[in-house]
Amino acid sequence: MDRRTFNDFRGLIYDLSGISLSENKETLVSCRVNKRMRALDIKSADDYLNYVQDDDNSSEIVHLLDAISTNVTHFFRESGHFDFLKAKVSDWASNGQRRLRIWSAASSSGEEPYSIAISVLEALRGKNVDVKILATDISTRMLKIAEEGIYEGKTLEKVTAAHREKYFTRIKTPHGAPRKYRAKPLLRNMIVFERLNLSQPPFPMHGPFDIIFCRNVMIYFDKEVKSRLLADMYRLLRSDGYLMVGHAESLTGLISDFKIVGPSVYEKDLILHGTRKTQKARVERTQIQQARPDLSQTQRSASGCYSART
Ligand SMILES: C[S@@+](CC[C@H](N)C(=O)[O-])C[C@H]1O[C@@H](n2cnc3c(N)ncnc32)[C@H](O)[C@@H]1O
Repeated sequence: MDRRTFNDFRGLIYDLSGISLSENKETLVSCRVNKRMRALDIKSADDYLNYVQDDDNSSEIVHLLDAISTNVTHFFRESGHFDFLKAKVSDWASNGQRRLRIWSAASSSGEEPYSIAISVLEALRGKNVDVKILATDISTRMLKIAEEGIYEGKTLEKVTAAHREKYFTRIKTPHGAPRKYRAKPLLRNMIVFERLNLSQPPFPMHGPFDIIFCRNVMIYFDKEVKSRLLADMYRLLRSDGYLMVGHAESLTGLISDFKIVGPSVYEKDLILHGTRKTQKARVERTQIQQARPDLSQTQRSASGCYSART
């Protein structure tokens, strides 16, 4: 692939996905594009570029983005986030919260949303809470794997034996093939998988989410795409909701409305009617919840504790 064609692909990929490929990614792009050219029996990169540009139903665009994106992930990656999640969910449930909405914004092959589901169930210890996890990714290939929820035994290394037993079923594999496990319906039914391009906000969800996991994807975006994305995530979070980002990602210099409260954990800053909510308001709210745990959803909305949820 020559330099001009590489730059055309770079521009196209940026426009389609926000993924910002540096100049030294020529070999990577060339290898991945070659794979698609072989699959389609197209002989030159320029012809393939034209093919993608003329792709009216976007099916080849999806394949190209699938080929370009990096999908590395694993169960309980950056495990501190899951300890934080468990602590929050347990607090909220003890304070009477009965709905929980979590978004795994670049869910790849599903290890992240399933880790979230396991953590939430463990934190709730049987408490009756309506939990929904939205898992989105740009890659339809990854979403398909995630939705099936089938993983090889070695992929489940970070899942304890007890949790593997509780939340996965071993499935039949040919003699000598690696062991495979499928997430039980209990986990799968908590998660809705959807294709969503993070570079194109505003997103169609209503929110608010209690927690958003947007980890190890912003590293591929430039400042402009990141800022747009963060602004819409801010909108979709409840006030005092949390945003988790990858440990290699920092929001420094990007937004002022989140405050850092832990390693790669950001809290939506408490802004109410244009003024910062005081600690007192937060305490009062907790007291209302504790005193009236049976408040209906409408009452909670009216009291300012909650608003309409996804
Ligand atoms: C490295 S994985 C991160 C997976 C998981 N969040 C984690 O931290 O383990 C990055 C994921 O971001 C997805 N991705 C890349 N660009 C995207 C975009 N514009 N919109 C949505 N997802 C995107 C890729 O398809 C890939 O599955």
